[in-house]
Amino acid sequence: MHVTRILTKEHVLIKQVLDLLDESRRALETGILVPAIFFEKAGIFCSEFADRYHHYKEEFLLFGLLSYKKKGELDTAMGVLRYQHDRCRQCMAQITRALERYENKDEMAVTLVLEHLGVYVSLLHRHIHMEDHLFFPMAEKCLSTEEKDSLTGQFAEQACRFGNSDKFLDKHQALADELSDIMGSW
Ligand SMILES: [Fe+2]
Ligand SMILES: [Fe+2]
Repeated sequence: MHVTRILTKEHVLIKQVLDLLDESRRALETGILVPAIFFEKAGIFCSEFADRYHHYKEEFLLFGLLSYKKKGELDTAMGVLRYQHDRCRQCMAQITRALERYENKDEMAVTLVLEHLGVYVSLLHRHIHMEDHLFFPMAEKCLSTEEKDSLTGQFAEQACRFGNSDKFLDKHQALADELSDIMGSW
């Protein structure tokens, strides 16, 4: 059984939004003023789904277990992944903070949004690539069947905190689709 398959499946939805954010970055670069509502809704998705739902499972459940099991051997690799989570959180918070002034076409706010958007998209793309291709396959080899079962149970418990798991996923898929629609309107 592959416990990290749950995480790689969530990456598919996160990457869908990342691609839209990347497109919005290119639009900003060429002088198109992307509607603020796009960044508002993208901020909600990134905060609720990427951070509180997905990154929590990695940082507090998977990394915690691996740190204990490998007695600190993987702490440097996990430290880098944690740092990338942190930087992405900070960048999205900066974007959200700048949105009121961005809406009023304040050029400094547009610059701040573009700056943090670039870092967010670039870091999270690399981060997901590292997890999918290096870190998760390595984690699968490290963990026993019992540990994977236990982790799967913890993932399910964590998902329950967000109510009905299917509804939560559907809601965020709908949010990603809505972002795609907004993008089609500019
Ligand atoms: Fe991660
Ligand atoms: Fe991840």
